[in-house]
Amino acid sequence: MSDAPALVEAWAPGRVNLIGEHTDYTGGLALPMAIDLGTTVAGRRVGDRVELTSGDQAEPASVPLDLTDPAAVSPPWARYVAGVVHELRPPTGLVGTVRTTLPIGSGLSSSAALELAVALALGFAGTATELAELGQRAEQIASGVPCGIMDQLASAAGVAGHALLMNFTTLEVQPVPVPDGAAIVVVHSGQERTLAGSAYGERRAACEAAAREIGPLLDATEADAAGVHDPVVRRRARHVVSENARVRAFADAFRQGDLTTAGLVMGASHRSLRDDFEVSTPVLDALVDRLTATRGVFGARLTGAGFGGCVVALTEPGALAEGWTVRASTGARLTLPTA
Ligand code: GLA
Repeated sequence: MSDAPALVEAWAPGRVNLIGEHTDYTGGLALPMAIDLGTTVAGRRVGDRVELTSGDQAEPASVPLDLTDPAAVSPPWARYVAGVVHELRPPTGLVGTVRTTLPIGSGLSSSAALELAVALALGFAGTATELAELGQRAEQIASGVPCGIMDQLASAAGVAGHALLMNFTTLEVQPVPVPDGAAIVVVHSGQERTLAGSAYGERRAACEAAAREIGPLLDATEADAAGVHDPVVRRRARHVVSENARVRAFADAFRQGDLTTAGLVMGASHRSLRDDFEVSTPVLDALVDRLTATRGVFGARLTGAGFGGCVVALTEPGALAEGWTVRASTGARLTLPTA
Protein backbone atom coordinates (compact mmCIF):
# COMPACT_ATOMS: atom_id res chain seq x y z
CA MET A 1 0.00 0.00 0.00
CA SER A 2 1.22 3.46 -0.79
CA ASP A 3 1.51 6.13 1.91
CA ALA A 4 0.43 8.91 -0.48
CA PRO A 5 -2.32 11.02 1.06
CA ALA A 6 -5.78 10.47 -0.37
CA LEU A 7 -6.93 12.47 -3.38
CA VAL A 8 -9.14 15.45 -2.58
CA GLU A 9 -11.23 17.23 -5.18
CA ALA A 10 -13.41 20.33 -4.88
CA TRP A 11 -15.67 22.04 -7.38
CA ALA A 12 -17.04 25.60 -7.33
CA PRO A 13 -19.35 27.24 -9.86
CA GLY A 14 -19.14 30.63 -11.51
CA ARG A 15 -22.14 32.92 -11.33
CA VAL A 16 -24.25 35.19 -13.44
CA ASN A 17 -26.08 38.10 -11.88
CA LEU A 18 -29.63 38.43 -13.22
CA ILE A 19 -30.21 41.80 -11.55
CA GLY A 20 -28.93 43.97 -8.69
CA GLU A 21 -25.63 45.45 -9.86
CA HIS A 22 -23.29 47.50 -7.68
CA THR A 23 -25.60 47.00 -4.72
CA ASP A 24 -23.69 44.37 -2.72
CA TYR A 25 -21.10 46.70 -1.17
CA THR A 26 -23.90 49.07 -0.12
CA GLY A 27 -25.80 46.43 1.89
CA GLY A 28 -28.43 46.21 -0.87
CA LEU A 29 -30.16 43.44 -2.83
CA ALA A 30 -29.23 41.28 -5.82
CA LEU A 31 -30.46 38.15 -7.61
CA PRO A 32 -27.53 36.14 -9.01
CA MET A 33 -27.41 32.41 -9.63
CA ALA A 34 -24.61 29.84 -9.52
CA ILE A 35 -24.12 28.37 -13.00
CA ASP A 36 -23.23 24.96 -14.43
CA LEU A 37 -19.77 26.13 -15.47
CA GLY A 38 -17.12 25.97 -12.80
CA THR A 39 -13.66 25.15 -11.54
CA THR A 40 -12.28 21.89 -10.14
CA VAL A 41 -9.20 21.69 -7.91
CA ALA A 42 -7.85 18.16 -7.37
CA GLY A 43 -4.74 17.09 -5.49
CA ARG A 44 -3.12 15.60 -2.42
CA ARG A 45 -2.64 17.42 0.88
CA VAL A 46 1.09 17.29 1.44
CA GLY A 47 4.10 19.54 2.12
CA ASP A 48 4.33 23.21 3.05
CA ARG A 49 3.36 24.83 -0.26
CA VAL A 50 0.31 24.93 -2.50
CA GLU A 51 1.49 23.89 -5.95
CA LEU A 52 -1.09 23.87 -8.71
CA THR A 53 -0.82 23.52 -12.45
CA SER A 54 -3.63 24.65 -14.71
CA GLY A 55 -4.42 23.64 -18.28
CA ASP A 56 -5.37 27.28 -18.97
CA GLN A 57 -2.21 28.90 -17.60
CA ALA A 58 1.35 28.71 -18.87
CA GLU A 59 2.96 29.00 -15.44
CA PRO A 60 2.02 27.07 -12.29
CA ALA A 61 1.07 28.56 -8.93
CA SER A 62 3.55 27.77 -6.15
CA VAL A 63 2.70 29.44 -2.86
CA PRO A 64 4.37 28.86 0.54
CA LEU A 65 1.93 28.38 3.43
CA ASP A 66 3.59 31.18 5.42
CA LEU A 67 3.47 33.83 2.69
CA THR A 68 2.95 37.46 3.74
CA ASP A 69 1.96 39.40 0.58
CA PRO A 70 -0.46 37.63 -1.83
CA ALA A 71 -0.60 40.66 -4.16
CA ALA A 72 3.14 40.32 -4.89
CA VAL A 73 2.86 36.68 -6.07
CA SER A 74 3.52 35.72 -9.70
CA PRO A 75 2.02 34.65 -12.11
CA PRO A 76 -1.08 36.83 -11.53
CA TRP A 77 -3.57 33.93 -11.34
CA ALA A 78 -1.59 32.51 -8.40
CA ARG A 79 -2.53 35.61 -6.36
CA TYR A 80 -6.04 34.21 -5.84
CA VAL A 81 -4.55 30.94 -4.58
CA ALA A 82 -2.20 32.97 -2.37
CA GLY A 83 -5.10 35.09 -1.05
CA VAL A 84 -6.88 31.90 0.09
CA VAL A 85 -3.73 30.52 1.72
CA HIS A 86 -3.21 33.85 3.50
CA GLU A 87 -6.78 33.92 4.87
CA LEU A 88 -7.16 30.19 5.62
CA ARG A 89 -3.65 29.36 6.90
CA PRO A 90 -4.08 25.60 6.29
CA PRO A 91 -1.75 23.32 8.28
CA THR A 92 -0.72 21.30 5.18
CA GLY A 93 -0.07 22.23 1.55
CA LEU A 94 -1.55 20.77 -1.63
CA VAL A 95 -0.06 19.45 -4.86
CA GLY A 96 -2.52 19.19 -7.71
CA THR A 97 -4.28 20.61 -10.73
CA VAL A 98 -6.91 23.19 -11.68
CA ARG A 99 -9.43 22.65 -14.49
CA THR A 100 -12.18 25.02 -15.43
CA THR A 101 -15.12 25.17 -17.82
CA LEU A 102 -15.52 28.91 -17.15
CA PRO A 103 -14.26 31.55 -19.55
CA ILE A 104 -11.53 33.29 -17.53
CA GLY A 105 -11.73 37.00 -16.73
CA SER A 106 -15.06 37.47 -18.53
CA GLY A 107 -17.30 38.52 -15.66
CA LEU A 108 -18.60 35.05 -14.71
CA SER A 109 -16.56 35.02 -11.47
CA SER A 110 -13.83 32.62 -12.48
CA SER A 111 -11.70 34.07 -9.67
CA ALA A 112 -14.41 33.44 -7.02
CA ALA A 113 -14.79 29.84 -8.26
CA LEU A 114 -11.02 29.32 -8.03
CA GLU A 115 -10.88 30.79 -4.52
CA LEU A 116 -13.69 28.61 -3.18
CA ALA A 117 -12.47 25.40 -4.82
CA VAL A 118 -8.94 25.99 -3.46
CA ALA A 119 -10.29 26.70 0.06
CA LEU A 120 -12.37 23.50 0.09
CA ALA A 121 -9.50 21.41 -1.31
CA LEU A 122 -7.28 22.79 1.47
CA GLY A 123 -9.77 21.61 4.10
CA PHE A 124 -11.95 24.67 4.79
CA ALA A 125 -14.75 23.64 7.15
CA GLY A 126 -17.54 26.11 7.83
CA THR A 127 -20.81 27.45 6.53
CA ALA A 128 -21.46 28.64 2.98
CA THR A 129 -21.52 32.22 4.28
CA GLU A 130 -18.15 31.77 6.02
CA LEU A 131 -16.71 30.27 2.84
CA ALA A 132 -17.95 33.28 0.85
CA GLU A 133 -16.50 35.72 3.42
CA LEU A 134 -13.12 33.99 3.22
CA GLY A 135 -13.24 34.11 -0.59
CA GLN A 136 -14.12 37.81 -0.57
CA ARG A 137 -11.17 38.63 1.70
CA ALA A 138 -8.88 36.55 -0.55
CA GLU A 139 -10.16 38.36 -3.66
CA GLN A 140 -9.70 41.80 -2.11
CA ILE A 141 -6.19 41.10 -0.90
CA ALA A 142 -5.16 39.42 -4.20
CA SER A 143 -6.63 41.98 -6.58
CA GLY A 144 -6.59 45.19 -4.55
CA VAL A 145 -10.21 45.78 -5.63
CA PRO A 146 -12.64 46.50 -2.75
CA CYS A 147 -15.23 44.07 -4.16
CA GLY A 148 -18.46 43.06 -2.47
CA ILE A 149 -19.43 39.49 -1.54
CA MET A 150 -21.98 38.69 -4.26
CA ASP A 151 -19.73 36.54 -6.46
CA GLN A 152 -18.40 34.37 -3.66
CA LEU A 153 -21.80 34.07 -1.96
CA ALA A 154 -23.46 32.96 -5.22
CA SER A 155 -20.74 30.35 -5.78
CA ALA A 156 -20.97 29.10 -2.18
CA ALA A 157 -24.76 29.09 -1.78
CA GLY A 158 -25.99 27.94 -5.22
CA VAL A 159 -29.22 25.92 -5.47
CA ALA A 160 -30.03 23.88 -8.60
CA GLY A 161 -32.87 25.39 -10.61
CA HIS A 162 -32.96 28.56 -8.49
CA ALA A 163 -31.73 32.12 -8.58
CA LEU A 164 -30.63 33.52 -5.20
CA LEU A 165 -32.29 36.60 -3.70
CA MET A 166 -29.55 38.11 -1.54
CA ASN A 167 -29.76 40.76 1.14
CA PHE A 168 -26.25 42.10 1.73
CA THR A 169 -27.14 43.73 5.04
CA THR A 170 -28.13 40.41 6.63
CA LEU A 171 -26.38 38.02 4.14
CA GLU A 172 -29.70 36.16 3.95
CA VAL A 173 -30.13 34.10 0.76
CA GLN A 174 -33.60 33.14 -0.46
CA PRO A 175 -33.82 30.71 -3.42
CA VAL A 176 -36.25 31.83 -6.16
CA PRO A 177 -37.15 29.16 -8.76
CA VAL A 178 -36.18 29.91 -12.35
CA PRO A 179 -39.55 29.70 -14.13
CA ASP A 180 -40.30 27.09 -16.78
CA GLY A 181 -39.78 28.46 -20.24
CA ALA A 182 -36.99 30.84 -19.16
CA ALA A 183 -33.56 30.49 -20.74
CA ILE A 184 -30.61 32.48 -19.43
CA VAL A 185 -27.93 33.28 -21.98
CA VAL A 186 -24.62 35.03 -21.33
CA VAL A 187 -22.97 36.77 -24.29
CA HIS A 188 -19.46 38.20 -24.17
CA SER A 189 -19.15 41.72 -25.56
CA GLY A 190 -15.65 41.07 -26.85
CA GLN A 191 -14.44 43.92 -24.68
CA GLU A 192 -12.01 43.02 -21.89
CA ARG A 193 -12.89 44.29 -18.41
CA THR A 194 -10.42 46.20 -16.34
CA LEU A 195 -12.08 45.78 -12.95
CA ALA A 196 -8.83 46.49 -11.14
CA GLY A 197 -9.02 50.02 -12.52
CA SER A 198 -9.83 52.76 -10.06
CA ALA A 199 -13.44 53.11 -11.31
CA TYR A 200 -14.84 50.33 -9.07
CA GLY A 201 -13.32 51.89 -5.95
CA GLU A 202 -14.59 55.33 -7.01
CA ARG A 203 -18.15 54.02 -7.39
CA ARG A 204 -17.96 52.37 -3.99
CA ALA A 205 -16.64 55.57 -2.39
CA ALA A 206 -19.49 57.61 -3.94
CA CYS A 207 -22.06 55.17 -2.50
CA GLU A 208 -20.44 55.45 0.93
CA ALA A 209 -20.57 59.27 0.67
CA ALA A 210 -24.28 59.08 -0.19
CA ALA A 211 -24.95 56.76 2.78
CA ARG A 212 -23.20 59.20 5.13
CA GLU A 213 -25.63 61.88 3.92
CA ILE A 214 -28.95 59.99 3.75
CA GLY A 215 -28.35 56.80 5.79
CA PRO A 216 -28.24 53.16 4.60
CA LEU A 217 -29.18 53.08 0.90
CA LEU A 218 -31.31 49.94 1.37
CA ASP A 219 -33.69 51.98 3.54
CA ALA A 220 -33.53 55.16 1.42
CA THR A 221 -36.32 56.28 -0.91
CA GLU A 222 -35.91 57.80 -4.38
CA ALA A 223 -36.85 61.14 -2.75
CA ASP A 224 -33.98 60.71 -0.25
CA ALA A 225 -31.57 60.03 -3.13
CA ALA A 226 -32.86 63.11 -4.98
CA GLY A 227 -31.82 65.21 -1.96
CA VAL A 228 -28.12 64.25 -2.13
CA HIS A 229 -26.08 67.42 -2.50
CA ASP A 230 -23.37 66.50 -5.03
CA PRO A 231 -24.86 65.81 -8.50
CA VAL A 232 -22.59 62.84 -9.32
CA VAL A 233 -23.08 61.21 -5.91
CA ARG A 234 -26.84 61.85 -6.32
CA ARG A 235 -26.92 59.85 -9.57
CA ARG A 236 -24.90 57.00 -8.03
CA ALA A 237 -27.37 56.87 -5.10
CA ARG A 238 -30.35 57.02 -7.47
CA HIS A 239 -29.01 53.95 -9.28
CA VAL A 240 -28.57 51.93 -6.07
CA VAL A 241 -31.95 52.89 -4.59
CA SER A 242 -33.83 52.20 -7.84
CA GLU A 243 -31.84 49.00 -8.46
CA ASN A 244 -32.87 47.59 -5.07
CA ALA A 245 -36.50 48.22 -6.07
CA ARG A 246 -35.88 46.51 -9.42
CA VAL A 247 -34.46 43.42 -7.68
CA ARG A 248 -37.71 43.11 -5.71
CA ALA A 249 -39.82 43.66 -8.85
CA PHE A 250 -37.79 41.12 -10.84
CA ALA A 251 -37.99 38.49 -8.07
CA ASP A 252 -41.78 38.98 -7.87
CA ALA A 253 -42.11 38.65 -11.65
CA PHE A 254 -39.93 35.51 -11.63
CA ARG A 255 -42.06 33.94 -8.88
CA GLN A 256 -45.15 34.58 -11.02
CA GLY A 257 -43.51 33.33 -14.20
CA ASP A 258 -44.02 36.78 -15.75
CA LEU A 259 -41.01 36.85 -18.05
CA THR A 260 -42.21 39.91 -19.98
CA THR A 261 -42.13 42.07 -16.85
CA ALA A 262 -38.82 40.54 -15.72
CA GLY A 263 -37.29 41.42 -19.11
CA LEU A 264 -38.51 45.01 -18.96
CA VAL A 265 -37.02 45.41 -15.48
CA MET A 266 -33.68 44.14 -16.83
CA GLY A 267 -33.76 46.83 -19.53
CA ALA A 268 -34.39 49.51 -16.90
CA SER A 269 -31.45 48.17 -14.86
CA HIS A 270 -29.14 48.48 -17.86
CA ARG A 271 -30.19 52.08 -18.54
CA SER A 272 -29.61 53.00 -14.90
CA LEU A 273 -26.12 51.42 -15.00
CA ARG A 274 -25.45 53.31 -18.25
CA ASP A 275 -26.82 56.74 -17.32
CA ASP A 276 -26.68 57.04 -13.51
CA PHE A 277 -23.90 54.68 -12.48
CA GLU A 278 -21.86 55.13 -15.69
CA VAL A 279 -20.31 51.65 -15.81
CA SER A 280 -21.48 50.66 -19.29
CA THR A 281 -19.63 51.14 -22.57
CA PRO A 282 -20.89 51.78 -26.14
CA VAL A 283 -20.02 48.16 -27.00
CA LEU A 284 -22.14 46.81 -24.12
CA ASP A 285 -24.99 49.22 -24.98
CA ALA A 286 -25.00 48.10 -28.62
CA LEU A 287 -25.03 44.42 -27.61
CA VAL A 288 -27.91 44.96 -25.16
CA ASP A 289 -29.88 46.80 -27.88
CA ARG A 290 -29.25 44.10 -30.46
CA LEU A 291 -30.20 41.24 -28.13
CA THR A 292 -33.28 43.05 -26.80
CA ALA A 293 -34.50 43.56 -30.39
CA THR A 294 -34.16 39.81 -31.14
CA ARG A 295 -37.35 37.77 -31.34
CA GLY A 296 -37.87 35.64 -28.22
CA VAL A 297 -35.67 37.84 -25.99
CA PHE A 298 -37.49 39.29 -22.96
CA GLY A 299 -34.67 41.57 -21.81
CA ALA A 300 -30.91 42.00 -21.51
CA ARG A 301 -28.43 43.96 -19.40
CA LEU A 302 -24.75 44.14 -18.59
CA THR A 303 -23.83 41.71 -15.81
CA GLY A 304 -21.04 42.05 -13.26
CA ALA A 305 -19.01 45.18 -12.66
CA GLY A 306 -19.34 46.58 -16.20
CA PHE A 307 -16.63 48.42 -18.20
CA GLY A 308 -16.75 45.50 -20.70
CA GLY A 309 -17.31 41.81 -20.06
CA CYS A 310 -20.67 40.08 -20.49
CA VAL A 311 -24.34 40.76 -21.09
CA VAL A 312 -27.05 38.48 -19.65
CA ALA A 313 -30.27 37.90 -21.58
CA LEU A 314 -33.56 36.35 -20.48
CA THR A 315 -35.03 34.51 -23.45
CA GLU A 316 -37.37 31.85 -24.69
CA PRO A 317 -35.43 28.57 -25.07
CA GLY A 318 -33.47 28.60 -28.32
CA ALA A 319 -34.02 32.29 -29.11
CA LEU A 320 -30.29 33.07 -29.31
CA ALA A 321 -27.73 31.07 -31.27
CA GLU A 322 -24.77 32.77 -29.54
CA GLY A 323 -23.22 32.88 -26.06
CA TRP A 324 -23.47 30.37 -23.23
CA THR A 325 -26.91 29.07 -22.18
CA VAL A 326 -26.42 28.55 -18.43
CA ARG A 327 -28.47 26.64 -15.86
CA ALA A 328 -28.84 27.42 -12.18
CA SER A 329 -26.53 25.06 -10.30
CA THR A 330 -25.67 23.84 -6.80
CA GLY A 331 -22.94 25.59 -4.84
CA ALA A 332 -19.28 24.86 -4.12
CA ARG A 333 -18.51 21.48 -2.54
CA LEU A 334 -15.91 18.82 -1.91
CA THR A 335 -16.46 16.08 -4.54
CA LEU A 336 -13.71 13.70 -3.26
CA PRO A 337 -13.43 11.89 -0.95
CA THR A 338 -17.08 10.91 -1.22
CA ALA A 339 -18.97 10.28 2.02
C1 GLA B 1 -18.07 42.59 -9.28
C2 GLA B 1 -17.81 42.46 -7.78
C3 GLA B 1 -19.12 42.20 -7.03
C4 GLA B 1 -20.19 43.24 -7.41
C5 GLA B 1 -20.28 43.40 -8.92
C6 GLA B 1 -21.19 44.54 -9.32
O1 GLA B 1 -18.54 41.38 -9.79
O2 GLA B 1 -16.91 41.41 -7.52
O3 GLA B 1 -18.88 42.20 -5.64
O4 GLA B 1 -19.94 44.47 -6.77
O5 GLA B 1 -19.00 43.64 -9.51
O6 GLA B 1 -22.51 44.26 -8.99
